[in-house]
Amino acid sequence: MALYALGDMHLSFQSDKNMDIFGRVWHKHEKKIEKNCNKLITDEDTFVIVGDHTWGRDLEHCHDDLEFICNLPGRKIMLRGNHDMFWNPKKTEKLNALYKDRLYFLQNNFYPYGDYAIVGTKGYCYEGKDTIEHADMLVDREIKRLRKSFDAATEAGYDKFIMFLHYPPTNIFEKKSKFTVIAEAYGVEQVIYAHCHGKDRWNDSILGMNNGIKYSLVSGDFLDFKPVKIMD
Ligand SMILES: [Fe+2]
Ligand SMILES: [Fe+2]
Repeated sequence: MALYALGDMHLSFQSDKNMDIFGRVWHKHEKKIEKNCNKLITDEDTFVIVGDHTWGRDLEHCHDDLEFICNLPGRKIMLRGNHDMFWNPKKTEKLNALYKDRLYFLQNNFYPYGDYAIVGTKGYCYEGKDTIEHADMLVDREIKRLRKSFDAATEAGYDKFIMFLHYPPTNIFEKKSKFTVIAEAYGVEQVIYAHCHGKDRWNDSILGMNNGIKYSLVSGDFLDFKPVKIMD
């Protein structure tokens, strides 16, 4: 039994979005995902897929992308990314019913992994695209959602946590954020995030140990689409 993670598949089986314009690493990236997952992951493993799954604008237009993910090995836990338009966070239960026993959508809930609770939410950080006030509002909304995930796990008796975010936990100016503070408050062992594309962005946030927590970036192009083992 092992826990793996990979983010930012950006699949487009039902659209003409070609990721090749973003660099060689994206050429036939879905083939790399399929090959690497089948080589590394077994059906006894858990695979957290850390957001930006699809370019499809709604469920109908991402059916084939989600089927591709369903056919990857392991118990697949899905986190919401900023491009996942098919996923209304208020209707997560509906998605969980629709993909029952095939995909597990993580929002306001948690999933067990041995003694650990897998908790998470999309997160948010200021990237210079909106006002600081708007970014703060989105961060607060995501913190509320993350707290619900922690509460659900705590109520079920869990006190060991692995925390997933799609966005990096801090923006490029910060070493500390509301996300690092909550992770430290709950004694989280690892924080795993994605979203950062291109080598100029891979160092945007915390990598490695920080205040007793291990931070890992798992965006697809950073890992050349090879899922990383988070723990045995
Ligand atoms: Fe992405
Ligand atoms: Fe993203």
